[in-house]
Amino acid sequence: MILTEKENSILKDLQTQEKVCMDHYNLCANTAKDGCLKDLFTQIAKDEQEHYQSLGKLINGEMPSFNTSTSKADSYHPKAAYNASANQADKQHDALLCSDSIGNEKMVSSDYNTSLFQFGSGEVRKLLNRIQTEEQEHAEMIYKYKQANGMA
Ligand SMILES: [Fe+2]
Ligand SMILES: [Fe+2]
Repeated sequence: MILTEKENSILKDLQTQEKVCMDHYNLCANTAKDGCLKDLFTQIAKDEQEHYQSLGKLINGEMPSFNTSTSKADSYHPKAAYNASANQADKQHDALLCSDSIGNEKMVSSDYNTSLFQFGSGEVRKLLNRIQTEEQEHAEMIYKYKQANGMA
């Protein structure tokens, strides 16, 4: 696949952003107080790594394969980790990590939406649209966690 210089530079910017997302979630996984939240952040960090790799393939002129149907958010059903007697400082700490992450996903998702309009290839648009959907699912899973824990 041949991409224009402009398309390539957009992909590189998106890839840089995915690296930041990956680092963000690994940091969150390391600092979250609740083990279930650590697991969620670790899982999302892996998704961001896959996004990073998919964009890398595109930059090298290869079309990565991607899944169009499954929603990780639909099958995510978090249980409450924080009850009324839980450590409130820990809960506040984890709630902040969640809110911060949702804010990032919102920004990244809207970047994908804007970027895909710049591409000539329908296949590339589909891939970027799929990644955008996954960013929305990340935010949805974190929102579900907040809701289950009385943070929303
Ligand atoms: Fe991502
Ligand atoms: Fe994400």
